[in-house]
Amino acid sequence: MHHHSALAGSTPANSTTIDHLNDQGAIAPSISIRHLDHFFGKGALRKQVLFDISLDIDSGKIIIMTGPSGSGKTTLLTLIGGLRSVQSGSLKFLGQELCGASAQKLTWVRRQAGYIFQAHNLHGSLTAQQNVAMGLEVHSEYSGSEMQQLAAAALEHVGLQDRIHYHPKDLSGGQKQRVAIARALVSRPKLVLADEPTAALDSTSGREVVNLMQQLAKEQGCTILLVTHDNRILDVADRIIHMEDGALVQNTKQKTIDLSNH
Ligand SMILES: Nc1ncnc2c1ncn2[C@@H]1O[C@H](COP(=O)(O)OP(=O)(O)OP(=O)(O)O)[C@@H](O)[C@H]1O
Ligand SMILES: [Mg+2]
Repeated sequence: MHHHSALAGSTPANSTTIDHLNDQGAIAPSISIRHLDHFFGKGALRKQVLFDISLDIDSGKIIIMTGPSGSGKTTLLTLIGGLRSVQSGSLKFLGQELCGASAQKLTWVRRQAGYIFQAHNLHGSLTAQQNVAMGLEVHSEYSGSEMQQLAAAALEHVGLQDRIHYHPKDLSGGQKQRVAIARALVSRPKLVLADEPTAALDSTSGREVVNLMQQLAKEQGCTILLVTHDNRILDVADRIIHMEDGALVQNTKQKTIDLSNH
């Protein structure tokens, strides 16, 4: 597999495995965080935004993270996805320590993850199919025509088979979000990080988008970490965690069942 070779030489021999097996042979969590702190700024402006975060996220689960604006949700998401360097504490992704990790290892992490952000970052000059194919560009093993084929299949999966040649400006908000989901999932990532994927959508499209993520997670066995302020979608979670002032205040292991509006 290409990610093994990407790491070769950058890690000690005894830590090159990315298998989910720990010493006991049990399934290890796909993400394991211990005493993680994070700071922004330098000198007098240095400000701590994450405080002593410890969290395990199991493979194949959907975890929803809630919390007030500015509480640190996006910061944590970007650290987990290798988009920012881990400064302090431990953050292991598929067994790989990201604190002090090389640029090469962070690139490897980014290739294992699919990202869905609120402002879906579609390229306006590209069609839906070309946008989705961008999700495969880090995987050099595919030819151009294979990427286009996989992109078309991914769009069919999200119900957009008749829109593959449309540009973003000719798609609705929900359709654009579905293109972003197809782009995040086309490479079959181990982890999907979604930052308020339904924020711009009405409740019906929001519901469709999360149902789709749930279905694809089941089919592809990937872990989904989803930040939302949208109480209407909490029922898709296997687990809900809550962030406040840079700390995890609640670590609910079981699914919330009491949802009045469903
Ligand atoms: N690049 C940055 N430089 C300095 N401070 C930052 C930076 N990014 C975020 N912050 C600060 O870190 C804190 C956490 O921000 P973060 O974006 O993680 O919050 P959030 O929980 O995602 O909020 P929201 O719900 O509004 O998206 C905030 O106080 C924010 O001002
Ligand atoms: Mg945020």
